[in-house]
Amino acid sequence: MFEAAGTTAHRLASGSGGWVERLGDDAMISHKNDAALAELITGLQKWSAESGWTPVRIFTRFLPLKNDERISPILRSGDATLPPTAVVTEAGIRYGLDFAAGYSHGLFLDQRLNRAKLGMLRPKRVLNTFAYTCSFSVVAARAGAETLSVDLSRKSLDRGKQNLALNGITETGHRFIADDALDLLPRLENRGERFDAIILDPPTFSRGNSGRLWQVEQHFEDLVNAALMVAMPKCAILLSTNCTKLDPVALERRSRMCAKIKRRAVDYVRTASLIDFPPGHGASTLWMMVR
Ligand SMILES: C[S@@+](CC[C@H](N)C(=O)[O-])C[C@H]1O[C@@H](n2cnc3c(N)ncnc32)[C@H](O)[C@@H]1O
Repeated sequence: MFEAAGTTAHRLASGSGGWVERLGDDAMISHKNDAALAELITGLQKWSAESGWTPVRIFTRFLPLKNDERISPILRSGDATLPPTAVVTEAGIRYGLDFAAGYSHGLFLDQRLNRAKLGMLRPKRVLNTFAYTCSFSVVAARAGAETLSVDLSRKSLDRGKQNLALNGITETGHRFIADDALDLLPRLENRGERFDAIILDPPTFSRGNSGRLWQVEQHFEDLVNAALMVAMPKCAILLSTNCTKLDPVALERRSRMCAKIKRRAVDYVRTASLIDFPPGHGASTLWMMVR
């Protein structure tokens, strides 16, 4: 089913102790403890025997309770002399992964349907904040949009540029700004920049410019208010978070207050559930559609 849709990056299994992802020719097992790892390896072997698909390499990644204990995945089986990179496809679009770049390989699979929706909206100008490796910008660019990708990490934006190139897209009409999204948004507003789609997918915690602490629970309204100031009429704004305290109901309730304050009429569209993610796995997401 995924292959037929041009997608080689998806979950193969999910459980309470972790999950298994197919990533092109490779597989990655994310696990909370050794018992879960052993169970997921056995599951992958069984699935492999039944489906006829055998991963070239298996990477494993420990899921710690604390963010500052996060480490890069390790190669568990396969050729250690190969570069720790891969190219996967999603709906025919190519994305580069790097298993040695840190805890995350470069593509958040739970955003698959939101990326597809962005492409279907065919926006003209897209602002992708907290852009990471710019997967949303690549989809928008493929659909003909001009994009502005913003992330604190220049390295991540460089990977975003490589993702554009992987899809044969030049950087013309695509800007990359390494900055704090909260600082940049008011500057964009003052410069008169306006967008018809805006991606807001911030981390739960981070340190922004000059060490400022970002906490999504506390600063969510600041972000939505600033985004509304650069939103064109009919702008689609993706609200997304991994913070377990902010489910789609809370995202709607809190962003509705922002829209009221900024005097913008809005409607909401829920994302359909992903076939390979059980309830409770993946980010909470919601589209806020400005009228
Ligand atoms: C959850 S990831 C975003 C994932 C991305 N939306 C995607 O689907 O691939 C969070 C990103 O936010 C960036 N970041 C953290 N704090 C930031 C800030 N204050 N301003 C801009 N980017 C920030 C991080 O460098 C990281 O790349």
